[in-house]
Amino acid sequence: MNKITRSEETATPHEQLARYLDTDLAQVNALIRARMSSEHAPRIPEITAHLIEAGGKRIRPMLLLASSHLCQYQGAHHRHLAATVEFIHTATLLHDDVVDESHQRRGRSTANLLWDNKSSVLVGDYLFARAFQLMVECGSLRVLDILSNAAATIAEGEVLQLSTAQNPDTTEEQYLRVIRGKTAALFSAATEAGAVLAQAPESHVRALQTYGDALGISFQIVDDWLDYGGAGSGIGKNIGDDFRERKLTLPVIRAIAKADASERAFWDRVIRAGDQRTGDFEHAQAIIAAHGTMEETRQEALDWSNTARDALADLPEHPLRDMLDALADYVVMRLH
Ligand code: IPE
Ligand code: IPE
Ligand code: MG
Ligand code: MG
Repeated sequence: MNKITRSEETATPHEQLARYLDTDLAQVNALIRARMSSEHAPRIPEITAHLIEAGGKRIRPMLLLASSHLCQYQGAHHRHLAATVEFIHTATLLHDDVVDESHQRRGRSTANLLWDNKSSVLVGDYLFARAFQLMVECGSLRVLDILSNAAATIAEGEVLQLSTAQNPDTTEEQYLRVIRGKTAALFSAATEAGAVLAQAPESHVRALQTYGDALGISFQIVDDWLDYGGAGSGIGKNIGDDFRERKLTLPVIRAIAKADASERAFWDRVIRAGDQRTGDFEHAQAIIAAHGTMEETRQEALDWSNTARDALADLPEHPLRDMLDALADYVVMRLH
């Protein structure tokens, strides 16, 4: 592991973390490549490579590695667990792009577009199974408990989202449950599992779990803000997907709460009835902007990012603690 050098002071927090963890990350990537293979079904590595080689920020594996080092872990299983969380993430992306009928991911066409839904679902299943094989190798039942719970909670969040979609009366509480499940669960499992692997004191495990949870929530709120064009286009995936899928995300939930009668009729038509016409997305963006709920959503993401940073106060001093602090800032940098 490197010390922070001068040139790294100008790097983004994400780059700093990646450099600090570079040896580990190279081994995690090698492990991912080795375990995505399949003796009998070449389509598995083809599809997985398409997605894995497109990059991805590797935030979840970095969280796991950082958390384990921060808690003075001396063994070698953190890399297996880092690969595990990236496999779980990759599997959920394959499934998610089918469910959302998305066409772009990581700046590339999605696997469901290039191959088909069936392949995406089945390769996603394969990667889930590979993730379980990897985590078993660490030999800790408590870690298995954390990561298998996370896998269940992610799926639960996605299904809950399915059943709240199309319902304009979805509450903020339901929204929070959805994003905590589909996104924050894996962030917090990564930070918690890293600490548990290192046999850290319970207060440190809790602090890192809280950090991951709040970071994940902030991250997803930013993502939902971006989907309404918060930062314009050019974010590596289409904007307006959530609107077309009639998903109730924070900018919309808040705008519906402030709607007058004609706006309410609009939301009922496009969200509940699914009768969407040319120009409706732009109209939705305009209503949302007029009520200031993009700005409120932005503020909500900033608040969760601060919650994440506050949780770090309970941890011992460590360069990685500072990097996690900066990462909480980085997540909301997309808001600028
Ligand atoms: C995308 O996650 C899915 C969400 C939870 C919004 P990331 O933004 O971490 O995806 P990659 O791995 O960097 O592509
Ligand atoms: C992604 O949720 C969360 C999971 C992969 C479980 P979204 O559907 O909101 O994320 P993007 O916009 O496709 O990355
Ligand atoms: Mg999606
Ligand atoms: Mg989705």
